[in-house]
Amino acid sequence: MSAIRANDPATTIRALTDRIESSLIEIRRDLHAHPELGFQEVRTAGVVARELQRLGIPHETGIGKTGVVGLIEGGRPGPVLAIRADMDALPIQEESGLPFASTLPGQMHACGHDIHTTTLLGVAAVLREMAPQLAGTVKLVFQPAEEGLGGMQAMIDDGVMDDPKIDLALGFHNHPDMPVGRFAYVRGPTLAASDRFDIVVRGKSGHAAYPHTTIDPVVAAAMLVTQLQTVVTREVPPTQPAVVTVGAIQGGTTYNIIPDTCLIKGTVRTLHAQARDIAEAAIRRLAEGMLHGMRVQCDVSYRRGTPSLVNDSRVLDPTVAAVRAQFGDVITEGEASLGGEDFALMADRVPGFQLRVGSSQPGREDRLHNSAYQPDERCIGFGVQALSRAAVEMLGGAV
Ligand code: NI
Repeated sequence: MSAIRANDPATTIRALTDRIESSLIEIRRDLHAHPELGFQEVRTAGVVARELQRLGIPHETGIGKTGVVGLIEGGRPGPVLAIRADMDALPIQEESGLPFASTLPGQMHACGHDIHTTTLLGVAAVLREMAPQLAGTVKLVFQPAEEGLGGMQAMIDDGVMDDPKIDLALGFHNHPDMPVGRFAYVRGPTLAASDRFDIVVRGKSGHAAYPHTTIDPVVAAAMLVTQLQTVVTREVPPTQPAVVTVGAIQGGTTYNIIPDTCLIKGTVRTLHAQARDIAEAAIRRLAEGMLHGMRVQCDVSYRRGTPSLVNDSRVLDPTVAAVRAQFGDVITEGEASLGGEDFALMADRVPGFQLRVGSSQPGREDRLHNSAYQPDERCIGFGVQALSRAAVEMLGGAV
């Protein structure tokens, strides 16, 4: 690829991306046809390792079970920038009807992580060519198991943050609510902390016709579910978004028995640490209060999951500037969402930012995690250019 020797990074990055775009789309279709669930990304990691090998990029496999980490050393010393892509698929039966649809029943790349993996391979190819201009190191992080299974934590446990130590972290996600070619950013908190709780409501079983001889956990659980609605409306400050959702309530077996227990399962989503603390304390207090009001003992298990993803201006500003420098005025400020994302664990340790990459095809209204999701594959090329340019900006390579 040594023929491309333009002086300005926009032209160089565009030309390098144009050269590889069709082969990237081939890789993406291959990954799409062979989706793998979290921590099972053996074939996918093999494709990643094969491509890094072909590009002459040193890499390690087996980081966080099925993760892969590649390193591109710049021509001069400088900070270490991690660029992270997730690789796992979802347990969804694909209904897209595409010729390269999933070949595996009940498994599908419905969140576009095939797009992410391919985009980062494209970034690897472009930055490999531009490495002599970079002052610093690019760490390519191909992460397994983003969909709730703890892939980022597994990579962190395996030392992904060190050797060389990551200074800045850049993530990205495809967004079908934006047309391909557009980008978005959110300042500050952008995705929610995601916690889970189980509450076992313990009463005393007995005959349904003699409720006065029992302590009914079903009625108490119903009251508690209603009371939990006040956590968001009456306790968390209204300026701090929060969600408390009870997703499951299970108790009893038949018509004429009042059971001993009733189980409540739910999730709490918050963008701010204060709201998170308030919500957890309120749920514990309301559950405890059921003992006095309804004579039931509530055992609460509250598990904190990934923290909220807070975008840092030290990565956000240069990336937004890079997108504008590469494409013009195609990036706008978006709204935070109460979804979760374990890139937050990396962004909790070093300044981080997640770029939103528009992926909707003209005329379609797709959604993530939908069985017919069809991102516009041109978002791969746009992502490659944007992320490569961001790396060039942050590693002082725009010379
Ligand atoms: Ni995703």
